[in-house]
Amino acid sequence: MTEGQHAEQFDAVDMIRTKRDRGTFSQAQIDWTVDAYTRGVIADEQMAALNMAILLNGMTRQEISWWTAAMIASGERMDFSTLRTPEGAVKATSDKHSTGGVGDKITLPLAPLVAVFGVAVPQLSGRGLGHTGGTLDKLEAIPGWRADLTNAQMMRQLSEVGAVICAAGAALAPADKKLYALRDVTGTVEAIPLIASSIMSKKIAEGTGSLVLDVKVGSGAFMKDEEMARELARTMVALGKDAGVNTVALLTNMNTPLGLTAGNAIEVEESVEVLAGGGPADVVELTVTLAQEMLAAAGVHDADPAAALRDGRAMDVWKRMIAAQGGDPDAALPVARESEVVYAPADGVLVELDALSVGVAAWRLGAGRARKEDVVQAGAGVRMHAKPGALVRAGEPLMTLLTDTPEKFERAREALENAVVIAPEGSRPAQRLILDRIS
Ligand code: URA
Repeated sequence: MTEGQHAEQFDAVDMIRTKRDRGTFSQAQIDWTVDAYTRGVIADEQMAALNMAILLNGMTRQEISWWTAAMIASGERMDFSTLRTPEGAVKATSDKHSTGGVGDKITLPLAPLVAVFGVAVPQLSGRGLGHTGGTLDKLEAIPGWRADLTNAQMMRQLSEVGAVICAAGAALAPADKKLYALRDVTGTVEAIPLIASSIMSKKIAEGTGSLVLDVKVGSGAFMKDEEMARELARTMVALGKDAGVNTVALLTNMNTPLGLTAGNAIEVEESVEVLAGGGPADVVELTVTLAQEMLAAAGVHDADPAAALRDGRAMDVWKRMIAAQGGDPDAALPVARESEVVYAPADGVLVELDALSVGVAAWRLGAGRARKEDVVQAGAGVRMHAKPGALVRAGEPLMTLLTDTPEKFERAREALENAVVIAPEGSRPAQRLILDRIS
């Protein structure tokens, strides 16, 4: 050992062997692993091997809980316990996290809707990678709107407006940032212990008082199987409760996109329709159900969120929330330069409109990014004209593809080749939106 180096408490290769052979870690071993990886003492290839061993052999609830705590300890922890209204009254906080789906714009109408009832929503969001869109990419379609706020700006907006959707700063769970980027390129995203600790470390560090998780199940989600999604939900609810955050999870269907739009500007447009008291039934149902759950988790039981969508109170908070971050809520949204229509191939009932296919098509049209550095097109995406359950006629428009770069149409059409199933009249698609609730 050279002077200045200090002895490491454990060895990365021993850790890999332990998990490879189905052993369990002590708290000290986990603390060291997360810290040593953040410091660069454990190399990427060693962490990749350990992640794969965890994916294959799992972790106990106790190990997951220690792993989560170690990731929280890698960065700063926010605290909203001093949050007050401008008049000095204490404000409770509640947040929602979705595990990601196609057309999932729910955060946009949901955050201002919950704030109507005096519960503050500190929503730290991310940008999209792959076929599921990012909330910040959608909001950045609004002229002038900016995602980066200081902690002081966030506190002020929560006090005065009641809702904020902004980028998570670099100081929040930095261990997760490094680990998630590695998992993304080593086929180890889909490990329940790693997903649960990744999501919950950020949400607990964010300092929310209560949390509602929307765990997606189906082709457009990364949990395709309901039992796996239920296990993920149970694990996250337990982690939240252990950390003193009142946590509830809903399991929701992601076999078909939410609403009639998948993209950025077009999803903002649909969210504004919901805030104006209209919008697609599934988006309204999920927004209202999640609002009720968030309010109940924060101790508000007599609220009527559906009424606040109808009577303009939620729209009022939305406009203030967008304006507080530099956006013009009344400005025209960007529109894609080119469009192409996809027609129904037959008469009958649309029984399937596959979420993953639509998500990949929107992504290929320019709505999403393949690498972190890619720039997204605000106007790109897929506008759907029918949802499962609708009666369609051959030759009727089913979807409109939108992009600024027409050479992208061909690959988007390829993604949609098997997206649609039309069955004889009288058939009924499986349509349940909310599959389960775990508390
Ligand atoms: N989202 C996260 O933040 N982390 C994961 O591991 C998966 C989805």
